[in-house]
Amino acid sequence: MAEIINGKIVSEKIRADIRCEVQKLKATAGIIPGLAVIVVGGDPASAVYVRNKHKACLDVGIESYQIQYPDGISEEELLRKIDELNLDDRVNGILVQLPLPDNISEKRVIERISPEKDVDAFHPINVGRITVGNYDFLPCTPAGIISLLDYYGIEICGKRCVVIGRSNIVGKPMALLMTERNATVTLCHSRTLNLDAICREADIIIVAIGKAEFLRADMVKDGAVVIDVGINRMENGKLVGDVAFDEVSAKASMITPVPGGVGPMTITTLLKNTLLAAKLHIMGHI
Ligand code: GUN
Repeated sequence: MAEIINGKIVSEKIRADIRCEVQKLKATAGIIPGLAVIVVGGDPASAVYVRNKHKACLDVGIESYQIQYPDGISEEELLRKIDELNLDDRVNGILVQLPLPDNISEKRVIERISPEKDVDAFHPINVGRITVGNYDFLPCTPAGIISLLDYYGIEICGKRCVVIGRSNIVGKPMALLMTERNATVTLCHSRTLNLDAICREADIIIVAIGKAEFLRADMVKDGAVVIDVGINRMENGKLVGDVAFDEVSAKASMITPVPGGVGPMTITTLLKNTLLAAKLHIMGHI
């Protein structure tokens, strides 16, 4: 049976350090880091994620500004709000929860956020910086996964890593960060041929394809480490990941559960990035 990789416990340890740093910043520079989160529309999953981000900010002493717009808001209005937040000194990080409604261009919205406040690391300038290994912010979910692997002492260097899913939010940057850590990475997706055979070669499998229980036991090598980024709600209301947990955990050496695996780590990286943005802002003013 696989050992469970507990994202809640690791998160809590990292959040304790962040809480201390936030207090120090307040005491020494009189600054309280601030995060603005914008949500458009009533997507229930987004509402849950945003509520968790808000609670996490309060928990470590980061100021959280929630901005909720109805579905019908125009792109111009949203861009104006971003312009305002870019200039607001209380706000160190700006996050626009994705997905956005069809009438709003995600690309234009992301590019409007000042790269210094882009705590998601989605802006092309930050993506470019990550690509060349010269960055301030790392994308929240991939960086959270690397922290988990490090915490559990899982060797990355030289290992075969398969990432399933090529999204800009998770898959692509995940492949990049694992490459930077000297893994040999294969980035797979919905059009990949012979996916099962490729997965069976992996020492570390990271699944972010958004399909409930997609990764089955016959796709996993004995002793592999399995990281599940998926959150899928079944018809009966149960939350499941992209990994068939029961059968895969009988074969893997270590595995993340859903919930309580990757999710808390994503938010912890967001807190880290917001604290870093505040520190960089102060440094820019001395
Ligand atoms: N939607 C799903 N995950 C994320 C994320 O990490 N950041 C933002 N902004 N939207 C998301």
